[in-house]
Amino acid sequence: MTYYVCKCFFTNNIFLKKYNMHVTYYDDEQFKRDFLQLLNKHGCDTEEKVQEACDEILCEVSRRRRLGEESLRRKEMIAAQYTPRHPSIYHLKDEYLSPEFLDLVQFCKTNTSSSQEDIIGKIKVCKADRVYTFPIFTEEFCRLFVEEMSHFEDCDCPKGRPNTMNKYGVLLNELGFDENFFTPLREHYISAITSILYPDWGGASLDSHKAFVVKYKLGEDTDLNYHYDNAEITLNVSLGKTFTGGELYFGDMFEPQKVTNKNTNFSEISHVPTVALLHRGQHRHGAWPISSGERYNLIIWMRSSAVRNVCCPMCHNEPDLVPTVGFGDGFTKQTETVDVCAV
Ligand SMILES: [Fe+2]
Ligand SMILES: [Zn+2]
Repeated sequence: MTYYVCKCFFTNNIFLKKYNMHVTYYDDEQFKRDFLQLLNKHGCDTEEKVQEACDEILCEVSRRRRLGEESLRRKEMIAAQYTPRHPSIYHLKDEYLSPEFLDLVQFCKTNTSSSQEDIIGKIKVCKADRVYTFPIFTEEFCRLFVEEMSHFEDCDCPKGRPNTMNKYGVLLNELGFDENFFTPLREHYISAITSILYPDWGGASLDSHKAFVVKYKLGEDTDLNYHYDNAEITLNVSLGKTFTGGELYFGDMFEPQKVTNKNTNFSEISHVPTVALLHRGQHRHGAWPISSGERYNLIIWMRSSAVRNVCCPMCHNEPDLVPTVGFGDGFTKQTETVDVCAV
């Protein structure tokens, strides 16, 4: 299967950390027309500062254009140079998964016509709409996995970063985790659950993903701005180590025409190690700053080409496909589709 990115990847959703804003950039003229007023309000109020923001955006766009090829090159270099600390964890085994999770998956597989209500007793329903948690990994697996991430961070290999909002983290496909870990985890375990919980968001037709680890630490990234994900369904696992603060918060679903309401009532969810949290990608969320320690989270953005081929979750139009390498952003030229934008 060939996967694609949507052309909007090179223009939309560019995050300016200094001003806490996501922007769209086609050219200087459009950018100033659409964002100058808002930028001024956020403290970007001199010609030099605006120019600096434009330069930063152009730099990000050029990084995005080179991303596919560079990621492939990094993956090859890592495969040739990196010696894993715990090679065994690159292959998914049931012993890494919590018994409760294995039970849940088994139940979902043997009761495929179950409704959400039928599995509610087996998972925790959060205050935020359609957000669920359940234990997924064992403590021992989380410990080994975090050790592997730290070991990789400390090595000299080239490192890509998960997205514009997280500077510290690891792209797990580059490290070689997709083939024997995350693809089987999605296909043989998580899909059974999402088929029941999110049939309307492609939960039964997930066919690609982007898996990465984000790290929060005082002096590095400490929090995560309010946003929605480039995913139909997101799985977020707290891996440790020990930390205080850093609660996740959920607001409303993203709606293209709706102006962000700063007074949204957020539902806070504290996230404990070994536990997975599932939510819809378009359900906007963020993470409050940690106040001490180090926090590692595994994020899997799961995609359904049947859903996104109709409506790109980032520009909310029919996607304009651009070839790339690997899973890209999960778009395909297949014709079987589910129209969630119409919903
Ligand atoms: Fe997110
Ligand atoms: Zn798009």
